[in-house]
Amino acid sequence: MPVSQRRRIPRLIGSLLLVATAGVGCGEATADSGSADGKAAAAEPEVRPLGRIVPVPASVTPEGEPYTLTRATRIGIDESSRESRAVGRYLAGLLRPATGFPLHIVDEDAARGGIRLRLDPDDTGLGDEGYRLRSGPDGVTLTARAPAGLFRGVQTLRQQLPSAVERRSVQEGPWKIAGGTITDTPRYAYRGAMLDVARHFFTVDEVKRFIDQLALYKINTLHLHLSDDQGWRIAVDSWPRLTTHGGSTEVGGGPGGFYTKEEYKEIVRYAASRYQEVIPEIDVPGHTFAALSSYAELNCDGVAPPLYTGVKVGLSSLCVPKDVTYDFVDDVIREIAALTPGRYVHIGGDEAHSTSHDDYVTFMDKVQPLVAKYGKTVAGWHQLTGTKPAEGALVQYWGHDRTPAAEKERVAAAARNGAGLVLSPADRSYLDMKYTKDTKLGLAWAGTVEVQRSYDWNPATYLPGAPEEAVLGIEAPLWTETLATTADLDVMTFPRLPGLAELGWSPADTHDWDTYKLRLAEQSFRFDALGIDYYRSPQVPWPGE
Ligand code: ACM
Repeated sequence: MPVSQRRRIPRLIGSLLLVATAGVGCGEATADSGSADGKAAAAEPEVRPLGRIVPVPASVTPEGEPYTLTRATRIGIDESSRESRAVGRYLAGLLRPATGFPLHIVDEDAARGGIRLRLDPDDTGLGDEGYRLRSGPDGVTLTARAPAGLFRGVQTLRQQLPSAVERRSVQEGPWKIAGGTITDTPRYAYRGAMLDVARHFFTVDEVKRFIDQLALYKINTLHLHLSDDQGWRIAVDSWPRLTTHGGSTEVGGGPGGFYTKEEYKEIVRYAASRYQEVIPEIDVPGHTFAALSSYAELNCDGVAPPLYTGVKVGLSSLCVPKDVTYDFVDDVIREIAALTPGRYVHIGGDEAHSTSHDDYVTFMDKVQPLVAKYGKTVAGWHQLTGTKPAEGALVQYWGHDRTPAAEKERVAAAARNGAGLVLSPADRSYLDMKYTKDTKLGLAWAGTVEVQRSYDWNPATYLPGAPEEAVLGIEAPLWTETLATTADLDVMTFPRLPGLAELGWSPADTHDWDTYKLRLAEQSFRFDALGIDYYRSPQVPWPGE
């Protein structure tokens, strides 16, 4: 059947759907989706109702007729802003392959009738990442106070278009964006994901693919877990065996790998082009077999252990009493801080079961000031609250329902004392937890985490006794003990990541599983177009089911 015929029936269904939902949610946040019977449509609507995207925008006012992208559409930018031009080029790069349109980038004034990206530094209500999108037959205008806001708005614009726009070959239109106004700002300033490149190594291109997936859902922080027992993944000139030896394997004994400084900088640059801040993590004093195996002097007994390719934790520790340990950590933090424009260096600190409590406290008291010495702020897993967290430290909570109340309270107390909290509850936000006991990949030590469970919690009230203002946001960690390929990463990340991104971005009063699951179901068209393999959770009414 020719493409045009195959698509005609679904389009009709789409139009009916549009009529059925038109007028819902005027003037306020809307999470309306799908059809009256609670099922997602079998095919995408020709015009996606305004705001029916993930994360759901803060304010949506549908109005008037849609905008139609054509061969004549131009992208208008602020010629005086290099970043505005870069966002314009990024947008054109997204839309050109599937539309086949030239989408010339011109000065804003010359883009009448097109898509205009407008910077308005006086629009302070939009904050650092907010944007306003106005769409109608006469054009689309995206306004932001800062370039990051333009970039987030571009993700909204992209999701309003049919998913076929994500394909990299010319597709049939039409390319319509529903009419009306979206005004949108994030709930939390920190919306992160973590990739463990230590247990299994992932190449620069594979990390870029992950960054692009995060960008689609307005994630703004990429935490890279760069060292662990099974591998050291970042070049440190003053300690070269960390990578030549310590980077030479991974879980299961594969060849591992590492990033040269240039490669790491390329990841940082690429993330920055997607308005994501990279937080490098060097996990100390535990999780350090790769370093201990590379340099005998880092071991208390002066004997280098073999490289470790298993998946147990808590077996390794740097030697706390030795001075060379702090020369080592100083060099590593200095070199990594110099490569990293972001604010934080993450020093791990989790599962130091082979370090005594007194040694742990001694170690953290000596190491935290090294982060400040090189101009960065400490980030660490929440065990850091067993010591005195440095001024302004970012504490990443990874407990779960069965975490002892005393441990939770210790973290809450640190938050009351000024630590910033990033919430990564393992039984909600860990992307490597199995969905069900039958999930092939992943781990289950924190329980199984189905899609609804990962979405249905409130960061503001999650940790008892922690002040709401201390919660900077959320992060979804992806540990890779069992994940070796991008297909593995995809199927654990999707479809949980979009829901976690929505928790971080969308206002609390939009939170609603029943409407979210319909919007999520529709994201499957986009996953398919992007070649993303995902878990077809029975909790989600996927199209055609
Ligand atoms: C962790 O999952 N060990 C932070």
